[in-house]
Amino acid sequence: MARNPLYLALLAPLVHYAKAAPQAGNAAQITYADGVVVPATPPVRTGMPVSHGPFTGVATMTGALTAPTVLGTAITGRPPSSAATTYPSDGNLHDPMLIPYAPGGGLGTNGTAPVYNVKSDFDYQSLALALYVEWFEMDLFRYGLSQFSQAEFAAVGLTPEDLYLIQFMAEQEIGHATLISNILGPSAPKQCNYNYPFTTVSEFLDFSQKIARIGESSVYGFLPHLDSRAAASLLLQSIAVEARQQVIFRQFMGLFPMPVWFEVGVPQSWAWTLLAPYISSCPADQTRLAWQNFPALTIVNQPNPVLTNGSMAFNQTISPGTNTLNSTGIPSNQSCVNATTPLADCKAAISSNRTIPLSAAGREVSLTWDLPGKQVGPENSYITTSQAGPAKFVAWVTQLNITYSPLTGLTGGGGGGGGNMTGGGNATNTTGTMSGKTIQPDLSTFMGDPAINGTIFIAITDSNPYLTPFNLSLINPHVVAGPALYQAG
Ligand SMILES: *[C@@H]1O[C@H](CO)[C@@H](O)[C@H](O)[C@H]1NC(C)=O
Ligand SMILES: *[C@@H]1O[C@H](CO)[C@@H](O)[C@H](O)[C@H]1NC(C)=O
Ligand SMILES: *[C@@H]1O[C@H](CO)[C@@H](O)[C@H](O)[C@H]1NC(C)=O
Ligand SMILES: *[C@@H]1O[C@H](CO)[C@@H](O)[C@H](O)[C@H]1NC(C)=O
Ligand SMILES: *[C@@H]1O[C@H](CO)[C@@H](O)[C@H](O)[C@H]1NC(C)=O
Ligand SMILES: *[C@@H]1O[C@H](CO)[C@@H](O)[C@H](O)[C@H]1NC(C)=O
Ligand SMILES: *[C@@H]1O[C@H](CO)[C@@H](O)[C@H](O)[C@H]1NC(C)=O
Ligand SMILES: *[C@@H]1O[C@H](CO)[C@@H](O)[C@H](O)[C@H]1NC(C)=O
Ligand SMILES: *[C@@H]1O[C@H](CO)[C@@H](O)[C@H](O)[C@H]1NC(C)=O
Ligand SMILES: *[C@@H]1O[C@H](CO)[C@@H](O)[C@H](O)[C@H]1NC(C)=O
Ligand SMILES: *[C@@H]1O[C@H](CO)[C@@H](O)[C@H](O)[C@H]1NC(C)=O
Ligand SMILES: *[C@@H]1O[C@H](CO)[C@@H](O)[C@H](O)[C@H]1NC(C)=O
Repeated sequence: MARNPLYLALLAPLVHYAKAAPQAGNAAQITYADGVVVPATPPVRTGMPVSHGPFTGVATMTGALTAPTVLGTAITGRPPSSAATTYPSDGNLHDPMLIPYAPGGGLGTNGTAPVYNVKSDFDYQSLALALYVEWFEMDLFRYGLSQFSQAEFAAVGLTPEDLYLIQFMAEQEIGHATLISNILGPSAPKQCNYNYPFTTVSEFLDFSQKIARIGESSVYGFLPHLDSRAAASLLLQSIAVEARQQVIFRQFMGLFPMPVWFEVGVPQSWAWTLLAPYISSCPADQTRLAWQNFPALTIVNQPNPVLTNGSMAFNQTISPGTNTLNSTGIPSNQSCVNATTPLADCKAAISSNRTIPLSAAGREVSLTWDLPGKQVGPENSYITTSQAGPAKFVAWVTQLNITYSPLTGLTGGGGGGGGNMTGGGNATNTTGTMSGKTIQPDLSTFMGDPAINGTIFIAITDSNPYLTPFNLSLINPHVVAGPALYQAG
């Protein structure tokens, strides 16, 4: 505990506030001129200047961090324990109260002082991943601001006041990176060098919107599984801000800010797969991650939000995985940026109706994906892998639902059988590209809320296991390629 600065940093202000709290009747005695001054925790610094562009060296080590003992290849689904349904959910109290107004139960509610540290490999690796994302976003928002002129931002409807909001979002990331670094301690991952795919303001906004979706959704995926409830409570408070950032980038693109009733959570390896390709290198002593990098998935007809009819886009992305829009060379009569009718335009706005939705149920979606075995991530030192058999389904992971649509029209390099390293697939031919098609499904979370909307996750799988938000990570051994971010709305 002594080497965990956060524990002390958090307690210190509480002590000061307790002393400073005005007592009933003596509020008039408080003088604000020389009021309470509580020194703040300095932000974490890695002391490394960030550079941009691809990595050109050679990896000195490869592969994800792995434990000396690995006990199996898949986690078996099993029924819930009989105790899972024994609490009678009838509105009556069934247990003694510790004190008045404090119903029995809950975790961390009995007075034991919280310790804001990690309590397992799962916790460490999850928070370390979140820290990679926070560092990434801090640099991304600053870099985007530095790359484009005020006139270029003004062309999509962003004012200098909007640009200050982007700057402030970068500052929020300083706080988030400091928080997670303090929780992890001295081995916390440091800031890296990055290789962004965007060259225009619209591409920067779309990339940021998608990176924020990845950061937010990966935390929702692991937060309820953390051993450390105390660390989870702090991370929750930072991810609540991340969620607002995602909405703001959508508004900056003239997208409807939140076209869903629930935000989706995804496994850590999905976030790492999507983020790693944009990290070119990290400091020499960087803490490595244990998560998987799956083969990249490209949405050939990814809907493009800068088109008046976004779903007519074909091959208009600047990279696989995030499938960020390409805004270069779009004819002005197809662009919605300068459209003159309000329902067709996509300038920055608090809320926007699109006359033509970006996608709809029944849309044919064309996909291509890599075979495993590519070098990706910092120093190209992680290797894409898949444990899955032949590609058969597309998993649509949205809101509360995991749905599968059949994959058809399979063609492909390396001899076919994508991801099947033992059979038809040829895992050693990493230049081979697989392709297939599917149809965007039609389903709702609850009546009145179509599940597929906003920025969602899809992946190629070898089967269609029944999964729900709390056990979605069981999908990983079935992932052939992906995830990709599908711009459904
Ligand atoms: C208080 O609750 C924690 C779990 O939240 C438990 O580990 C601890 O044993 C409890 N302490 C007491 C005194 O009941
Ligand atoms: C939008 O583009 C799609 C794909 O090209 C096409 O099927 C659809 O009819 C278009 N919608 C409108 C309203 O033009
Ligand atoms: C997509 O566009 C890129 C770059 O313009 C080009 O190299 C590639 O061949 C195109 N792919 C398809 C399937 O049209
Ligand atoms: C974006 O589109 C333009 C015009 O079609 C093309 O020249 C360029 O190569 C594309 N960019 C990428 C990264 O594919
Ligand atoms: C939209 O209009 C602005 C201002 O006239 C111009 O700078 C920009 O290039 C236009 N964008 C498109 C996609 O036509
Ligand atoms: C845009 O203009 C081109 C050339 O004038 C034309 O061929 C095309 O049909 C137009 N597209 C739309 C969506 O109006
Ligand atoms: C915006 O879209 C909603 C849902 O389709 C519709 O009910 C509403 O009338 C639209 N508003 C405007 C101003 O077009
Ligand atoms: C997504 O939500 C927006 C806003 O409510 C709506 O206009 C659009 O039709 C929806 N798209 C789909 C695919 O349901
Ligand atoms: C791989 O493909 C071969 C031939 O299609 C099949 O026999 C084998 O069961 C597959 N392996 C897995 C793990 O799915
Ligand atoms: C790998 O697969 C690609 C795509 O099918 C094919 O063009 C290429 O010849 C294959 N390479 C080797 C070495 O087999
Ligand atoms: C797989 O591809 C490699 C080269 O890409 C080739 O040398 C090897 O013979 C192929 N193996 C099979 C089983 O096709
Ligand atoms: C989507 O999730 C909701 C909430 O769990 C559930 O009620 C609904 O049945 C699911 N829909 C489908 C098609 O799986």
